[in-house]
Amino acid sequence: MTDSFNRNEKVIVALDVDTKEKALSLAQELAGSGCWLKVGLELYALSGLSLIEEFKKLGFQIFLDLKLHDIPTTVEKTMRVLTASGVDMINVHCGGGYEMMARSSEVCHRAGKKLIGVTVLTSMGGQELPAIGVNDSTDEQVVRLAKLAQKAALDGVVSSAREAKILRQECGPEFLLITPGIRPEWSGKNDQVRVLTPEKALEAGSSYLVVGRPVTLAENPREALEKLWD
Ligand code: C5P
Repeated sequence: MTDSFNRNEKVIVALDVDTKEKALSLAQELAGSGCWLKVGLELYALSGLSLIEEFKKLGFQIFLDLKLHDIPTTVEKTMRVLTASGVDMINVHCGGGYEMMARSSEVCHRAGKKLIGVTVLTSMGGQELPAIGVNDSTDEQVVRLAKLAQKAALDGVVSSAREAKILRQECGPEFLLITPGIRPEWSGKNDQVRVLTPEKALEAGSSYLVVGRPVTLAENPREALEKLWD
């Protein structure tokens, strides 16, 4: 196994594209590199679980980023359907509460899948937390929800790389930290504001780096993936 394959195993490429054909073509170009693929709401709405099976045939591990948030029974039953597919990692909003998370993680673990929590969306800036009744700082709320997720046996959380350090301290070395907002020096920021390079994000304690446009919009996505570490 090459070094580059091992490093790519920490990269989750976000397939934020608007057609099934574009998604498949990107997957074919990235096949064999070692990276994961992330399927979000848009692509899932377009193509459902069938596309996931195609990605599995190409050898990928898949993070299904649907951020489920509903009553415990509904989420648990949905998890049973999703975990019967080829996905490897799924997520729920921690704000759905302990019981919803605990029942979901039981289903996921029985099926050998990982379950990740979403704490505070990084789009929630300024006055948005107080507006929904949260008067603590973002960091306090992120740590509170991450600890609740850990108590409910989730495998980790999605967080900005900025929060990775404190989460690593508070939740220990085994807890998975999945961090978007990753930009190598050579790449534009797009609409991301607080970004870290892949190397700095790993130093801060990230377990997996979610990278979208620097790879998916590149003329040669495979080359861009390899250049993440330059
Ligand atoms: O193209 P880019 O690298 O910015 O894509 C980042 C991916 O991570 C997108 O799928 C985006 O929805 C997701 N994400 C994010 N920030 C969060 C949570 C998820 O950018 N806080």
